[in-house]
Amino acid sequence: MFEFFVSVVLITLTLYYYFLLADNILGSNGMSTSLRARKKIFEIIGIHAPQAHIFYDLGCGHGSLSIATQKKFPQFTTYGIDNNYTRIVVSKIRGWILQSPVSFVHKNFFDINLRNVDVVYAYLLKECMPPLEKKLLLELKQGAIIITSTNFLPTWKPIETYVTKKGKRFEKLFVYRKT
Ligand SMILES: C[S@@+](CC[C@H](N)C(=O)[O-])C[C@H]1O[C@@H](n2cnc3c(N)ncnc32)[C@H](O)[C@@H]1O
Repeated sequence: MFEFFVSVVLITLTLYYYFLLADNILGSNGMSTSLRARKKIFEIIGIHAPQAHIFYDLGCGHGSLSIATQKKFPQFTTYGIDNNYTRIVVSKIRGWILQSPVSFVHKNFFDINLRNVDVVYAYLLKECMPPLEKKLLLELKQGAIIITSTNFLPTWKPIETYVTKKGKRFEKLFVYRKT
């Protein structure tokens, strides 16, 4: 009985691993923020937005960053938005298993108004950044914090940058404050 249980768990984990691998290869960039960068993001939020309440993960992928952020900052109301249906389903299942209150929404984030948001996180492809910058400048309230990973907002000057892996541009973090 025990062997059967272990086999089921191992098969499920293997299938899950290959499913995520296939999704990352076949779907558009669904990579998750690394644990190293996640730690730095938590520090940044602690320093720059300790009073924040509403957190948006724009392009939440499989939901791990959204769920971890909500756990670290229980006072947050967290939204994970993704336009990839499979990733939102995976995020919702993850959230359900971990009993996380994060709201996962299947939507193009360009169709969501961000006026009430306190902290935005965006780990996206380079081509998303110019229209995202326009949107954030137009909609975000004064004082809101934006953290981007790897790619940056093209004309907005960051208040801080962090290199999470020495000598690498990958997962460099850019912090902005809406003035
Ligand atoms: C690199 S993943 C980041 C995942 C997660 N934020 C993390 O850091 O672990 C980027 C995600 O953004 C999503 N995405 C890209 N453009 C989007 C859009 N306009 N609206 C919603 N989701 C989008 C992609 O489907 C992908 O899952």
